[in-house]
Amino acid sequence: MNLWIKNGHLLDPANDRNEICDLYVKDGKVACVGSLSSGRIPEEEVTVIDASGKYVMPGFLDLHVHLREPGFEYKETIRTGTAAMAKGGFTAVCPMPNTKPATDCPEMIRRVLEIAEKDSPIHVYPVGAVTKGQMGEEMTDIAGMVKAGAKAISEDGKSVMNAELYREAMREATKADIPVMAHCEDRNMVGKGAMNAGAKAEELGIQGITNAVEDVIVARDILLAKETGARLHLCHCSTEDSVKMIRAAKEDGVKVSGEVCPHHFAMTEDEIPGDDANYKMNPPLRSSTDVEELCLGLADGTMEAISTDHAPHGEEEKKKSIAEAPFGIVGSETAYALTVTHLVKKGYLTPMQLVERMSTNPCRILGVPGGNLAEGMPADITIADMDSEYQIDKNTFLSKGKNTPFDGALVNGRVYYTIVGGNIVYQYK
Ligand code: DOR
Ligand code: ZN
Ligand code: ZN
Repeated sequence: MNLWIKNGHLLDPANDRNEICDLYVKDGKVACVGSLSSGRIPEEEVTVIDASGKYVMPGFLDLHVHLREPGFEYKETIRTGTAAMAKGGFTAVCPMPNTKPATDCPEMIRRVLEIAEKDSPIHVYPVGAVTKGQMGEEMTDIAGMVKAGAKAISEDGKSVMNAELYREAMREATKADIPVMAHCEDRNMVGKGAMNAGAKAEELGIQGITNAVEDVIVARDILLAKETGARLHLCHCSTEDSVKMIRAAKEDGVKVSGEVCPHHFAMTEDEIPGDDANYKMNPPLRSSTDVEELCLGLADGTMEAISTDHAPHGEEEKKKSIAEAPFGIVGSETAYALTVTHLVKKGYLTPMQLVERMSTNPCRILGVPGGNLAEGMPADITIADMDSEYQIDKNTFLSKGKNTPFDGALVNGRVYYTIVGGNIVYQYK
């Protein structure tokens, strides 16, 4: 499909372009960027998209989602999850390995890719587990998984508590030239904690998760990355000290990057209305001091990526109390608007920086094409505005998961088109 995207506001940090122009897409690639006259492009051969009043951006890459297939298809499938991602403006996604069985060997990576090939409208870059069955005992065949198509390794859902084993995995990942994505949570310290430790948890009579549960593993993993030279990517950073440690480690030359999820910068623990498990995720909603540092870290570039940790669960599971329900909320269909509303509108990020955090940087961190709309690049494109105002309605989600604390929230920013390899895979109607 050839596309003529007319009069949009191009935001392309990779090429330092921030201007109104046209984009011509031919054979799945960006063929021409600039001011196009109808004389040069025969209109009858192209689909014209009027992008006036909207931003045209390189497609977003979500470095962190849970698609649940195989094993938990009642929560989500690769088909429903990627449809939800496309609606959210994402043209690529990294599914985490805590499926059943775990995505922990070359065969499982191939299986995920085969399902994605037939069911997903967007790029799927699978993440392989660090240990077999995510049991924390035996390292997986990292080189084999990479050969099969894994783009990173992670034990997400938990941390590898054995530092020696994790160090060895970092060495293997470095040899294979892939990042290690770390879920930072000390298993021995977390106990039965279900929300942030503090006044709110005490009020609700729920056991707390302190900042140190995250921070001690962030510190450990940074030190392991320093020793091994691994590319360490810290998942869903939620504390003030995570940001400060990443800032210091970068100054120290450690190859570390960090992601922040929209719920962690858009909401504090004070907004939890009561015992409602739609506010339960891991790591938990933190204090306003943490949230402010996360926003500042995103603004100054310490925190390079925004990812969702999209974690769909069944309705019955999330009807349980905070103490008993599983951790996790959905994020793919709210991430862009929450970022616009809480970071761009409040002055933490410019529109160009939003694109860096959601597209350019994630593609660079993962080492995949995308995040770049220069001529000749793949036509993975998101067209959206930052002004439309509406209320989030979970009943409109394409995801099977409706577990969000943002239902009814008033936000700005709507995705109109998601384009992958020149094909329109989502269009707002
Ligand atoms: O909230 C979360 N949900 N955090 C995790 O680390 C795992 C995820 C899940 O798989 O549901
Ligand atoms: Zn995690
Ligand atoms: Zn996760």
